[in-house]
Amino acid sequence: MKILVTGGLGFIGSHTVVELQNKGYDVVIIDDLSNASIEVLDGIESITGKRPEFVELDLRDKHLVYEFFKSNKDLDGIIHFAASKAVGESMQNPMKYYENNFFSLINVLSAMQEYGLDKIIFSSSCTVYGQGKVMPIKENESVKPALSPYGNTKQVGEEIIIDLAKVYPLNAILLRYFNPIGAHESVMIGESPLGVPYNLIPYITQTAVGVREFLSIYGDDYDTPDGTCVRDYIHVVDLADAHVRALARLVNKENTDQIEAFNVGNGQGYSVLELVHSFERVSGIKLNYKIVDRRPGDVDKAWADNTKAREVLGWKPTKTLDDMLDSAWKWEQKVRNS
Ligand code: WQD
Repeated sequence: MKILVTGGLGFIGSHTVVELQNKGYDVVIIDDLSNASIEVLDGIESITGKRPEFVELDLRDKHLVYEFFKSNKDLDGIIHFAASKAVGESMQNPMKYYENNFFSLINVLSAMQEYGLDKIIFSSSCTVYGQGKVMPIKENESVKPALSPYGNTKQVGEEIIIDLAKVYPLNAILLRYFNPIGAHESVMIGESPLGVPYNLIPYITQTAVGVREFLSIYGDDYDTPDGTCVRDYIHVVDLADAHVRALARLVNKENTDQIEAFNVGNGQGYSVLELVHSFERVSGIKLNYKIVDRRPGDVDKAWADNTKAREVLGWKPTKTLDDMLDSAWKWEQKVRNS
């Protein structure tokens, strides 16, 4: 089976490619290298012994996308990760998010329709729920206005897929991630944001290793036990496993609806301060941090009800918070010492 993974050199994409190869799939990666480095290919190969086929391509270019699909009509499925994905950045640069996330998705879907491909796993997000009122969040939680352009691109992305499926026999699984963190146990791949990290964990590990002077904690006046935001952190390898299971469901034609959505989260929320203190315990390092103003676009709290993924995909999270933080810390130290 040959699977296209767009954004396959990215954080979640690369970990998913490893799990796909471990399950015997042939993988072709498309990535524009805007937020990933080509060395990730070496990391994947060092883990699995197989170097995925790689095509550097900007998915916003419709002509290039059609040319690729025209010569890859034998694809058995597509996992579409390629997107910009930082909530905070999307508030500052919405047009980058709308252009990249919409043009890329639309070109992939149009090419699928053009060349008769009908199976896609869409990298969606818990941000489609906006500020969910009821915790834990279930898949049938009413979709509320997203609080960020990033979240909006995922909400509308799901709607585009749903509308296409009404006129074309598309089969899609929408995986709504919560907060992916951590790194592969081999320490050969991990989260490597280019430039200043927007996400919490890479900022914590870069502060611990001395690359950043201190962590800014964005607000401690939220409606949460310690006032800092609560999130559901999920190990990236557990998240990758959910993709392999979802793909199998489509290629084996086990899906009962054209469109199925699953929350992929641990089912437990931790506050920013709880994360900081857990990291200090796991690493043995006192973290330098300051409480600053809230970051626009953040929701107070979000954690998953993952019952549907457990019951339908047979998926479950296997890593503890300490496992996640320890793997992220080991990766940061490896990156800084290599
Ligand atoms: C987490 C918490 C910040 C940085 C992520 C992904 C997004 C989506 C949802 C998949 C927030 C706080 C952060 C910092 C801080 N997942 N923080 N100081 O915004 O929940 O979104 O999960 O689609 O793609 O980005 O993650 O790591 O940016 O923030 O205090 O320097 O940490 O305010 O409360 P977020 P995050």
